[in-house]
Amino acid sequence: MPKKPDKEYGFDTHCIHTGHDVLETKTITPPIYQSVAYPYESAEYAAKLFRYEIEGFMYGRMDNPTNQMFEERLAAVELTEKALATGSGMSAIFMACLHLMEKGEGFVTSNKIYGGTNKLFTETFPKMGFEPFFVTDSSDIEVWSEGINNKTKFLYVESPSNPNLFVGDIPALAKLAHEHDLPLVVDNTVASPALQQPVALGADIIVHSATKYLSGNASCISGVVAGSAEFIDNMREKDYRNIGPSISPFNSWLLLLGMETLSLRMSKHCENAQAMAEFLENHSKVESVLYPGLKSHPQHELAKKQLKGYSALMSFVTKGELTDAKNVIDAFDLIIHTGHLGTTKTLATHPAFTTHQQLTQDERIALGIPDTMIRMSIGLENIDDLIEDMDQALAKIK
Ligand SMILES: Cc1ncc(COP(=O)(O)O)c(C=O)c1O
Repeated sequence: MPKKPDKEYGFDTHCIHTGHDVLETKTITPPIYQSVAYPYESAEYAAKLFRYEIEGFMYGRMDNPTNQMFEERLAAVELTEKALATGSGMSAIFMACLHLMEKGEGFVTSNKIYGGTNKLFTETFPKMGFEPFFVTDSSDIEVWSEGINNKTKFLYVESPSNPNLFVGDIPALAKLAHEHDLPLVVDNTVASPALQQPVALGADIIVHSATKYLSGNASCISGVVAGSAEFIDNMREKDYRNIGPSISPFNSWLLLLGMETLSLRMSKHCENAQAMAEFLENHSKVESVLYPGLKSHPQHELAKKQLKGYSALMSFVTKGELTDAKNVIDAFDLIIHTGHLGTTKTLATHPAFTTHQQLTQDERIALGIPDTMIRMSIGLENIDDLIEDMDQALAKIK
């Protein structure tokens, strides 16, 4: 397999092979280049490398052969020219946004985003002179349009969103962005490229918390930005080099191994999640369930068009009060209570008291996160065992 295979290979072939030349490395598993520096073959070579006139490895903060393998693989499956790996999903989002704006400029974003992203936009960005405009009715393209002004540098959407499962209309947002000569940035963490390739829908820049499905088994904090060669090269040469949000080669190696099984894992995640969502929807102790795979989801039809599967994230609201939701969480036996998603194990979180605790109750309610909401990330266990555990936990609600 050549290092940069023809783009006509199928998705799974890219996930397994792209970026790794087995004959060159003499290994069938990608090697970990655990080195911060690389020998320059001559003074002239070094001078050209530092002027970015030739490709090569300069210094571990900017580049690394194992990181490059992961970046090439990710770019192939996200249908972009290049990618840049970062130490976390938050640093990927930070780097992409930073690189698109100058002080005093801004962007238009859905307000239905991960709590940490919300805090980056509302706490950190204003300190840097960046001005986010939050769209409150994110399914109304007109409202997005009204937020655009001459300082707007990009549109930002997380789709599906964590934890409220909002599905953004990516083709419509891309059209709007392009009419204003702006790029559309998509956080594709929850779908993963196995279920959604935003570039095929018109998006320009993709960000990921690779910590989730790309790695797949909760083994590393990591992120990635994917986009055009011009955008990624420029970011690597400037902001990435200046700030240093690099990924460890060991984590890139974990991601390379994780990606090999991405499609298989995603289809089992989707199958288990659909069964759990249907079980919850018919349960007498459950007020409501939000899962894009259910007909009751407000954007089910859009999700059906845009996604190859509905992923494993869902939220449900229990009957009763705050203490009832807490009792359910505490009663889980097999299901693990923790603030993570996108891994082999089934996880549950109580957003009001964990991931979204940073927000005020009013802010949470505005985002559709009541105190009795439980967020689930359905894993790959036997579905009967998961449903049995859920059933006995819901029985704690009187
Ligand atoms: C949709 C989404 N984007 C970004 C992040 C941030 O990722 P990380 O924890 O890898 O920094 C998360 C974390 O949960 C997330 O759910």
